[in-house]
Amino acid sequence: MLELRNLSKSFPGVKALDDVSVSFAPGEIHALVGENGAGKSTLMKLISGIYQPDAGRIVFDGKPLRFRSYHDSLRAGIDIVYQEIQIVPENTVAESIMIDKLPTRGWTGIIDWRKVNATALEYMRTVQLDVAPDTLMKHLSPAQKRLTQIARALSADAKVILLDEPTSALTEHEADNLFGILRRLKQQGVTLVFVSHKFEEVFALCDRASVLRDGRLIGTRPIAELTRPELIQMMIGREFLEEHMGRVSVNRNRVVLKAERVTQRGRIHDASFELHEGEILGFYGLVGAGRTELARTLIGEQCMDGGKVWIDGARAHIRRIGDSLYKYGMGYVTDNRKEEGLFLEDTVRSNVTVAVWPQLVHRLTRYISGRREDAIASEMVAGMSIRTPGFASLVEHLSGGNQQKVSVAKWLAADCRILIVDEPTIGVDVAAKGQIHQLLRNLAEKQRKAIILISSDMPEIIKLANRILVFREGRIVGEVDDVDNPEKRYDQLSLAIGNFLQ
Ligand SMILES: Nc1ncnc2c1ncn2[C@@H]1O[C@H](COP(=O)(O)OP(=O)(O)OP(=O)(O)O)[C@@H](O)[C@H]1O
Ligand SMILES: [Mg+2]
Repeated sequence: MLELRNLSKSFPGVKALDDVSVSFAPGEIHALVGENGAGKSTLMKLISGIYQPDAGRIVFDGKPLRFRSYHDSLRAGIDIVYQEIQIVPENTVAESIMIDKLPTRGWTGIIDWRKVNATALEYMRTVQLDVAPDTLMKHLSPAQKRLTQIARALSADAKVILLDEPTSALTEHEADNLFGILRRLKQQGVTLVFVSHKFEEVFALCDRASVLRDGRLIGTRPIAELTRPELIQMMIGREFLEEHMGRVSVNRNRVVLKAERVTQRGRIHDASFELHEGEILGFYGLVGAGRTELARTLIGEQCMDGGKVWIDGARAHIRRIGDSLYKYGMGYVTDNRKEEGLFLEDTVRSNVTVAVWPQLVHRLTRYISGRREDAIASEMVAGMSIRTPGFASLVEHLSGGNQQKVSVAKWLAADCRILIVDEPTIGVDVAAKGQIHQLLRNLAEKQRKAIILISSDMPEIIKLANRILVFREGRIVGEVDDVDNPEKRYDQLSLAIGNFLQ
């Protein structure tokens, strides 16, 4: 039994946790829910010894715990899968999984690499991570990196596993597989603490839920006694209505972007499609299906081995990212914010305005206008409810979901005509997710932008897209049109999408 008694933790300018007491039982899956910045990750980091509490105690099996580091908690049988994917790029997958327990050969102290790879492979199979054990971490997709972390936690044979948004970046299929694993661990008496913004997951998987709001515990309740609106009410203190987005008027006569047989050897094969003014075109598929690669090729970050691209009817020559942004007004919101979407050690203000700096430079003095920078930043912070003590705060100190909002805000500020957004709502809470959806909607509907939405979240893509292209193994294998027709039901659409993936 793991008990938290009256835990408090402050950071400069924020009380992240305020007198929180919860207990977690063996063999239970305990959901920890709350809005972005509510204190979930901070709670997990206190349990795993990464942060020290300012006040309060952690009691495990009747004994008070004082961890000075993550390794102490690991030794006590507590392991954590972080919200932010943390990797050593030059390590192999097998090393990353086995890092704390590399087997040595007899008395020699020499690491038995063959055994490392073989053991790691077992755990990789469990999580269905389908790469060679000696692949370098830097070559993995975000989903694969995530699966590596989960495999590592499984291999640690822990009594308590803390999972901070483990399914972000995973597809439904991969998440289902993970849930199977978690249910088995639960049967073995492992305590699982699970943070997720996806209610489907919370209701399908968890036994009890504890809700945090502004660092305080609002309550702990058995899931069987909770409804979704009640849970949302506990989280945000008011009811949140999810609205249907309705139909967008797409101008099918205006082709903004046309791709013809775009190919990148070994990754994308003959991708052809058209994107119209005012359209939200969904790219759906399993992680690794080539959606992100296609996006990166279109913006000029990866080179094209074949095929042609037209923008507004004229052949486009995009050789680097600068071309796509400055010549063609095309922006890309990355799904990998930690490594490339944000300047973590910089302020919220600079991150939001970085893509528009050229417009902020004064014609004569060549200085960036601080006033306009502030105006844009404050509009974005308010418009997207980014929870931060101020625009001068460093992005690395924001909670994960608020970082994601900053990375989306940056491209909204850039005022691109074509916007490619890659998994824009990973890790953001319900209210913020609704705001991002509304923003994307308005961009298409009112500002007549053309948007490509890459998402592995089926409800999200069905809610927002007019048309969905289905990707599999680097190819576009199907198209579902008329998605926003109110006559069409969710289950019909999801079936149509699913059929292409068979
Ligand atoms: N190292 C830090 N320095 C300063 N402030 C921090 C730090 N870590 C967290 N905070 C602040 O503490 C509060 C709680 O953050 P936390 O990361 O626990 O939220 P969360 O519930 O996990 O949110 P999310 O759903 O966005 O991941 C936030 O206001 C955040 O900005
Ligand atoms: Mg968090």
